Amino acid sequence: MLIKSAEFVTSNTEVKKLPPPTLPEYAFIGRSNVGKSSLINALTSRKGLAKTSQKPGKTQLINHFIINNEWYLVDLPGYGYAQTSKKNRTEWEKFIRRYLRERPNLQCVFVLIDSRHEPQKIDLDFCCWLGEQGLPFMLAFTKADKQSAVKGDQNMAKFKKALLKWFEEVPPRFLTSAETKLGIDKILAEIDAINQQFVPPLATE
Ligand code: GTP
Ligand code: MG
Repeated sequence: MLIKSAEFVTSNTEVKKLPPPTLPEYAFIGRSNVGKSSLINALTSRKGLAKTSQKPGKTQLINHFIINNEWYLVDLPGYGYAQTSKKNRTEWEKFIRRYLRERPNLQCVFVLIDSRHEPQKIDLDFCCWLGEQGLPFMLAFTKADKQSAVKGDQNMAKFKKALLKWFEEVPPRFLTSAETKLGIDKILAEIDAINQQFVPPLATE
């Protein structure tokens, strides 16, 4: 898919203030610092579109970007950021989970996992929660450039094995790098295919 335009739309914590749910939407989520904002910039080939940082906890709000005037990319705050107060973590839980459950045009959640690490409980728990909610998701393993291809593949295989304890089938998985652009075309192709099938949800108000 060719990215002709990519623009910031809004930052929010409240579902009712989000852009109208008339276009297909894809949310990027995962641990703090896993590379969500960087992957969004790589997907759109726009370096400064989503704000990135070496320090975890950079993205704090639900950030909407409109791509080609046809679909939304959503950059979300990360989970598992140890420095955040308990109150902040609870707030995260509330507004992010609410957004994920209530957004009618959300087509797929991309869960980002650091490809350098063995499966982590926090990521597995989050995938299970998505499964319980019936939310479709795919897995993007990030920072592939930071270690050997073999190591990345091994960690992906271990994560798949761990998920198979709870799921009958595992969703599509992609090894990615925001640096080398590995996996970017594959993710855009998945989004393109879903966009073709999109039927706008009926207005409920
Ligand atoms: P929060 O918004 O804080 O939750 O973080 P995030 O998940 O959006 O991560 P972000 O994109 O800000 O990236 C965190 C750090 O990892 C930055 O220093 C990035 O440059 C680096 N990074 C992200 N993706 C990659 C990658 O594919 N390769 C390499 N080498 N570094 C990456
Ligand atoms: Mg971020």
